[in-house]
Order: sequence, then C-alpha cells, then structure tokens
Amino acid sequence: MTAYAARLLAWFDVHGRHDLPWQHPRTPYRVWLSEIMLQQTQVRVVVPYFERFVTALPDLRALAAAPQDEVLALWSGLGYYARARNLHAAAKRCVDLHDGDLPRNLEALVALPGVGRSTAAAILSQAWGEPAAILDGNVKRVLARRHAVDGWPGLPKVEAALWAIADTLLPPARLADYTQAQMDFGATLCTRHAPACLLCPVADDCAAFAQGRVDELPTPRPS
Ligand code: ADE
Repeated sequence: MTAYAARLLAWFDVHGRHDLPWQHPRTPYRVWLSEIMLQQTQVRVVVPYFERFVTALPDLRALAAAPQDEVLALWSGLGYYARARNLHAAAKRCVDLHDGDLPRNLEALVALPGVGRSTAAAILSQAWGEPAAILDGNVKRVLARRHAVDGWPGLPKVEAALWAIADTLLPPARLADYTQAQMDFGATLCTRHAPACLLCPVADDCAAFAQGRVDELPTPRPS
C-alpha cells in the first residue's frame, strides 16, 4: 500500500465519518442513492432525505415500480430534480437489464442515467470493495496539491493527469473506507480555503505544501 493510502486510512479511523446511514447497512442500492443525493448536496442536508427515501422505497425494485410523482415528492427540497428523474429511469433500466440489481462494473454503471465515472467508482468501491478510484471536486483539489499539478482541473488534459494519479494511489484493500476517507479528508482538512496543513497526515509528501503553493492550487478556472 502507498504511504499516502495508509496514512489517510489511519486518519480516517480516528477522524472520519463512520456513522452515515448508507454505511449501515452498506448495500449497493443505498450507496448509489446516497451518491446521487450527495452529488450537489452536503451530507448534513442529505441525511434526513436519505432516511425518508429508503424508508418509503427500500430497494431498487420498489423504486423502479414507484410512480414518478412519489419519487419527485420524496426528492422535494433537495433540488436538482433531474437527479431524481435519472435515478428513477436508472432503477427501471436495472430491472430491465440487470435483473433488478446495480451492475458491478464501471462500464455498465456509467451507462446509467446520472452516473458519471467518479460516481460509478464511489459505488463500486463502497458497495463491493472494488478497486476503483474516485475523482470528485474534493479529490481533484487534494491531488492537484499533493502532486503540484498546474492547470484548471476542468481541462481534459489536467483531469486525465489527475485520474492517472488517483489510480496509482489506490490501496489493495479497504476500498470503501479509502473512498470515504478521501471525501472526509477533502471536506474537513484539505479544504478550498484555509486548509489545515498543520493537522494534515500527508503534509510531508505534499508538493504544494513543500513549495508554499497550497493557496494557488488547484489552478482556478480561467476567466
Ligand atoms: N460526496 C459524495 N459522496 C460522499 C460521501 N460518501 N461522503 C461525503 N461526501 C460525499
């Protein structure tokens, strides 16, 4: 395991979030639903919506069979309603094509409406412990700093470089924890503004920290 993954996991054991409702039980359906809700909404807002949603529609077949109105009503207040419509359409597709389950591979997951590569990796790693790297906004920021990657991460070339780095850092085990560790680390320590480098478990191999460039990276979107 890379020293980076080992340190991040040790940090996660002490400081990470271990009591999120989709972690207990951690089924593919619950992980998927949580990841779609979390795409544009913060954890503390998502939690009560998640609980209400899974109480009403506890599994993928229940969601697929529900009327659109019910799905939208359960989503109401979370915003970005395309997420709810995509979720519903994806559930129906899983019933039609995947025997009522979420598919356990990257290609079939990204083919579902609303699921991009990072969301698919978040599902694979958390639901099944598959070795798939995530690269959401938080992780882009963390890796752009650690490796001093210049250029706005929205540029395809920069994003490709960050994906390659993310792949090399994957640990051989504890993939669900590693995914959650990165989310928690980006959200609480390696934040956009005023990151807590003095508390950081991986500061001693952070290129941006060594170069005094933490405040400059990631490179902002060109205006
Ligand atoms: N954002 C997306 N997925 C998340 C997760 N599992 N925990 C916290 N924030 C997230």
